[in-house]
Amino acid sequence: MRQAGRYLPEYRALRAQAPSFLEFCYNPDLATEATLQPVQRFGFDAAILFSDILVVPDALGQRVSFETGEGPRLEPITDDSGLAALQDHLDLTRLAPVLETVRRVRAGLADDKALIGFCGAPWTVASYMVAGRGTPDQAPARVLAYQQPALFARLIDRLVAASVDWLGAQIEAGVDAVQIFDSWAGVLPAGEFEAWCEMPMQRIIAGLRARHPKIPVIAFPRGVGTRVATLAETLGADAIGVDTAADPFWLSRNLPRHVTVQGNLDPLALLAGGAALDRATDTILEAFAGRRHIFNLGHGILPPTPIAHVEQMLKRVRGF
Ligand code: CP3
Repeated sequence: MRQAGRYLPEYRALRAQAPSFLEFCYNPDLATEATLQPVQRFGFDAAILFSDILVVPDALGQRVSFETGEGPRLEPITDDSGLAALQDHLDLTRLAPVLETVRRVRAGLADDKALIGFCGAPWTVASYMVAGRGTPDQAPARVLAYQQPALFARLIDRLVAASVDWLGAQIEAGVDAVQIFDSWAGVLPAGEFEAWCEMPMQRIIAGLRARHPKIPVIAFPRGVGTRVATLAETLGADAIGVDTAADPFWLSRNLPRHVTVQGNLDPLALLAGGAALDRATDTILEAFAGRRHIFNLGHGILPPTPIAHVEQMLKRVRGF
């Protein structure tokens, strides 16, 4: 996720070569290397494309920058004129370097390793587009959605179409599966949740299925509590990513069996290491034994995580 890589010295060395984070994402030499690094070091079963969810607003014409240590900055969209300034369609020329990265990574990966492409879900991406930055509670987008629902719906519609185009282009360039990150799905009350999280994700997945019926889709609606069981039925995703707070035994009992579960080790357990890490790893392995499961963290790996702890966890997972 967005913090991944930073715990690796080889990533930090590569990062130092790029003038900015976005130029890193748009540089196929550097982005290919960054995508492959974790697989080369640890032999993971899958690589996640090195890019960001905010390349979509950037390619819709809302220029994005990343301030070191402060996170993303965009010109906030607060009214009709802000929306009118966006392009109707994604500028795939601007994103061509990312598609070049996909082709190079796929060519450089062994056949038994998967490459995961991704985008942000409309709600999560819109929360940055409206606030112009990361916020603790996504209040600017939530208020805009209450005050100007028609305007907000048009923004979400634009993002649904852009996401289908963007994931479709990644699939055509060679990714083996796609993941949709709804990192801020958990803040919306019922009603708002269905309108801005559930339905847009459903529409993206249906749109993708129409073009690429066989591509595996992973949905990651973070922080939604027990609503994850409904989403596993309604979204139409093949797999559902689950966050750290969800009880793996509850999930295992309540999620439909045809849906693969991805998750959900606490990144802080990985950071802590020792016996606590072993216990946390075992709990997840035992809870999901006997069903389709992708072992993963419940959110991004934290930059100070020791490499030895990742090795300890992997050994335990592989030995299970
Ligand atoms: O993990 C990976 O390296 C794969 C690529 C990836 C990144 N971002 C790279 C990145 C993925 C899948 C993302 C997703 C992403 N980006 C999300 C959804 C998942 C999540 O983490 O909730 C979100 C909300 C973003 C937006 C974003 N990108 C923010 C808020 C930030 C700043 C974060 C911070 O703590 O400073 C980023 C930057 C970012 N994206 C980094 C990376 C490796 C760090 C950039 C750096 O300093 O090197």
